[in-house]
Amino acid sequence: MQTVTLNNGVKMPIIGFGVYQIPDAEECENAVYEALMAGYRLIDTAAGYLNEEAVGRAIKRSCVPREELFITTKLWIQDAGYESTKLAFSKSLKKLQLDYLDLYLIHQPFGDYYGAWRAMEELYREGRIKAIGVSNFLPDRLMDLIVHNEIVPAVNQVETHPFYQQMESAAFMKEQSVQHQSWAPFAEGRGNMFGNEVLGLIGEKYNKSVAQVVLRWLVQREVVVIPKSVRKERIVENFDIFNFELSADDMKQISDLDTRDSLFLSYHDPKFAKMLGTLKVDL
Ligand SMILES: NC(=O)c1ccc[n+]([C@@H]2O[C@H](COP(=O)([O-])OP(=O)(O)OC[C@H]3O[C@@H](n4cnc5c(N)ncnc54)[C@H](OP(=O)(O)O)[C@@H]3O)[C@@H](O)[C@H]2O)c1
Repeated sequence: MQTVTLNNGVKMPIIGFGVYQIPDAEECENAVYEALMAGYRLIDTAAGYLNEEAVGRAIKRSCVPREELFITTKLWIQDAGYESTKLAFSKSLKKLQLDYLDLYLIHQPFGDYYGAWRAMEELYREGRIKAIGVSNFLPDRLMDLIVHNEIVPAVNQVETHPFYQQMESAAFMKEQSVQHQSWAPFAEGRGNMFGNEVLGLIGEKYNKSVAQVVLRWLVQREVVVIPKSVRKERIVENFDIFNFELSADDMKQISDLDTRDSLFLSYHDPKFAKMLGTLKVDL
């Protein structure tokens, strides 16, 4: 398993399995089980996905030794704050049937995430989390968190795919020793990603699919990927990216697909901050 080394020395698989938008418990459990059988060892869930219990059951069913696994979950905005983060962490662990987490992320840069970070720093020092990080933090938010706290986030998980490549953010994160992780590597198929001609032609050269080209491109940039699928054949296909290499010319062609903008949302938009901040999730 190819890994990256985080800023605290912890090794993280460069490919994992994401479980956003698999609300059906049985479907989620089966997908995670298939992923573990296919060789994935990193599973990326979140309290807000409402499927931590299903992930926990799949882990148990797989019988993969705990030390081989890298389990990530995320703290939702409603639970930001020092005390509520400690409580939310315990709830997540219980649902996942685990006694420690590999990575705990602040899901969104909203609410009292400073209180959350202090609670996470404590849980990390107590050895209950192997690494702590954030998600959806633009460089200014990330720097603010870094300068006002003791522990530098190990990971920042942000939207990253061929149409939104995050090159400046990536350079900034590298400078700060924060590992870049991509969410929505396929942009969930938006922008006709799977039908993209450039990506398709590159894939043909190596007998690989568009999905495999995209994941390979990210891995060659040393970005950790967590593709999601509920179909066994795609789960296997997405993991099969370590037997070919994109050339410098392929990488250049893909870099030209960058629109430098999100296909989902804007972290600069107050309406979005209000919408997420007032959303009530039955966690
Ligand atoms: N931190 C955050 O705020 C945040 C936000 C979004 C996502 N995430 C994380 O990132 C993970 C991945 O992102 P995502 O789930 O939003 O989207 P994604 O992985 O970009 O795309 C998933 C979509 O692509 C399809 N797909 C998967 N493999 C395929 C293949 N080989 N060929 C054709 N279609 C394929 C899936 O369909 P089928 O399932 O039908 O195969 C699904 O519709 C999430 O699951 C979650 O863990 C984090």
